[in-house]
Amino acid sequence: MTVFQGHEQVVFCEDRASGLRAIIAIHSTVLGPALGGTRFYPYASEEEALADVLELSRGMTYKNALAGLDHGGGKAVILGDPSRDKSEALLRAYGCYVQSLGGRYVTACDVGTYSPDMDHVARESRFVTGRTEAAGGAGDSSILTAFGVFQGMRAAARRVWGEPTLRGRTVGIQGVGKVGRRLADLLAEDGARLVIWDVDDAATARVVAAHPMTTVAADTAGLLAADLDVYAPCALGQALTDEVAATLQARIVCGAANNQLAHPGIEKTLAERGVLYAPDYVVNAGGVIQVADELEGFSMERARARAARIYDTTGRIFELAERDAVSPAVAADRLAERRMSEVGRLRSIWR
Ligand code: NAI
Repeated sequence: MTVFQGHEQVVFCEDRASGLRAIIAIHSTVLGPALGGTRFYPYASEEEALADVLELSRGMTYKNALAGLDHGGGKAVILGDPSRDKSEALLRAYGCYVQSLGGRYVTACDVGTYSPDMDHVARESRFVTGRTEAAGGAGDSSILTAFGVFQGMRAAARRVWGEPTLRGRTVGIQGVGKVGRRLADLLAEDGARLVIWDVDDAATARVVAAHPMTTVAADTAGLLAADLDVYAPCALGQALTDEVAATLQARIVCGAANNQLAHPGIEKTLAERGVLYAPDYVVNAGGVIQVADELEGFSMERARARAARIYDTTGRIFELAERDAVSPAVAADRLAERRMSEVGRLRSIWR
């Protein structure tokens, strides 16, 4: 693995007394302070943690650029098992390191960290967002993540069927956790039929209680075998494997999960089979839009209006993809890079 992958700064943080071992990666500050969550995860090795944080922080650069934020990309990982190792002292020690970067990196929640954890980090650092509502924060970011995915799905529906609605369509959701179940609510309200699958029975039961007409699949294969118009991966990454891409019946893939493509090139298979793929980092940006808003004093109304623009951005990416005869994933990357160069350049004007 090459460590230098175009990142501006990578910081290793250790505080032996609290057990903190963390890596903060700042990929880019071209558009502003790097913004991205803290993942607390029991990595098998330091190398694995480093590889993860480098990839995730690069992804945030692109996500934040296309979300229209004045933020670059960064991410942090804390090495350890959150259920065993998380403590006030560890989180506050981590906050000291975030503060020491002087605002070049702003942290938030990710897998294994929650709003109350950010409240602890915020006792040591000003450069934290995604705190609890009680502490004046934006709270649970899955609200606008689900809303943004729904907007992306509406844009895809307009592209494929001419109307920006899922009314009468069958949508299969893999993973009905915080985001997936909220997406189910929005889809049901829009008149879609739901087929769901989650490894956690309690999660599926919650959706069925709210929407009794929902069909529960037996497993992921069962979900994919259902007569789906849209497939929404909302569990873990890498949902789109070679096999899924080669056999999927749905016309649209649009979901919240990060890194849905198991490897580069799968987006081509999907395109060749006439499946429209809404790039994950474009449609799942509602959460980062929600927490970025907190930095200005949180307004749900303003954040929701910003997340609603995901509809236009997704539609524009589909248009550019067709114009340039590339996949939507490539068109999205190009659009993000264009904004970084056009807007980032303004930093060179001396003020
Ligand atoms: P969550 O942990 O609340 O929900 C994930 C659900 O997927 C859980 O109910 C879990 O039981 C289920 N699951 C795990 N493995 C599964 C499998 N193999 N098959 C079926 N179900 C499975 O997480 P959350 O917050 O809903 O996030 C979902 C995805 O969206 C994640 O990939 C996350 O990285 C991504 N995301 C979330 C954002 C947020 O604001 N919460 C923002 C951007 C992306």
